[in-house]
Amino acid sequence: MNMNVSEKFFSASSELPSESAGPKLVSLFCGAGGLDLGFINSGFDVVYAADYDLSAVQTYNRNHAGKRANQIDLLETSAAELYQQAVIAPGLDGHIDGVIGGPPCQGFSRGNTGRCFSDPRNQLAVKYAEIVNYFFEHSKIKFFLFENVPEILASKNTEFLSMLREKLSENFIIHEKEINAANFGVPQQRHRYFIAGVSKHIDSTSFKFPEPTALTHKTVREAIHGLPEPIYYKKGCGENDIPFHPNHWTMQPKSKRFLTGEMPTGGRSFIKLEWGKPSRTVAYGNREIHVHPEGHRRLSIYEAMQLQGFPKSYRLCGSLSAQVKQVSNAVPPPVATALAESLKDLLF
Ligand SMILES: C[S@@+](CC[C@H](N)C(=O)[O-])C[C@H]1O[C@@H](n2cnc3c(N)ncnc32)[C@H](O)[C@@H]1O
Repeated sequence: MNMNVSEKFFSASSELPSESAGPKLVSLFCGAGGLDLGFINSGFDVVYAADYDLSAVQTYNRNHAGKRANQIDLLETSAAELYQQAVIAPGLDGHIDGVIGGPPCQGFSRGNTGRCFSDPRNQLAVKYAEIVNYFFEHSKIKFFLFENVPEILASKNTEFLSMLREKLSENFIIHEKEINAANFGVPQQRHRYFIAGVSKHIDSTSFKFPEPTALTHKTVREAIHGLPEPIYYKKGCGENDIPFHPNHWTMQPKSKRFLTGEMPTGGRSFIKLEWGKPSRTVAYGNREIHVHPEGHRRLSIYEAMQLQGFPKSYRLCGSLSAQVKQVSNAVPPPVATALAESLKDLLF
């Protein structure tokens, strides 16, 4: 049976998992929910999620029926206050199994040349450690999963990272690994650094990070070729003006370079993707979204979501720039599922 283009690329909301009563998680810095979606797909139950970005919180609640993300500034919230809201108030005292989350990483990133230790943005990683230790002491959580950029290993971050490792090891045995999303069926070269902490009361010597599931890397062509043209942003335009998928929109191609379509396939600006390769990392600082392989415009948000491995039915909320941020920040759900499976194999 021939599918029309809309059926092919935007089929069932049944791609999103149904709710479960699996191991219970609290999610910090949940963003649009890429990491969480992987854990939910693997049977975990996120009972509480937090982020301070309103659009991200709206996205989360739109796509995860029955789950509740909360708009909270985690820097301004003590571990005890969070525990009260996430665990005591809903009557879950003592019944949380794990904490997941990736604090923002600007302080560690390559672009930032300042001193890592005093960068206030890195205080969120310290806060993360305080929270997992508090949750261990009060709920005996079995694990945490921390996600960040590989640049956290850079020499300028050494002092900070060793302090962070020390804090994360107070109650957990930590395991660390850099993972490339392209090895997990995601059509994108995306390297991220994961720290999994397993309760010191559990023997985790057999814990293994997931092995690659994809023998060959998926290409941009496999992910987005044949999609209809997106809508170009104009003032006042909202999702009701976007026919194919509410996130299939992008900025107006203003630069003259889009007339010829001749662009670099490397460097930092106007990077044109190649049909026959995985995408470069979907990480769009300053709205520098990669250029579509045909060179006449930038990718749409929906195309970027496909390069991140989101289900076709997933929908991001907020302005175009809010959506750029959410899609760039997300952990590709297939990577998160593989990580969740590894933790499940050891712990549940
Ligand atoms: C790397 S992103 C998380 C992405 C998410 N794990 C996913 O897979 O979609 C980091 C998140 O931290 C949030 N954030 C930054 N500062 C925060 C704060 N002080 N309190 C709460 N959330 C914060 C950002 O809004 C962003 O969504």
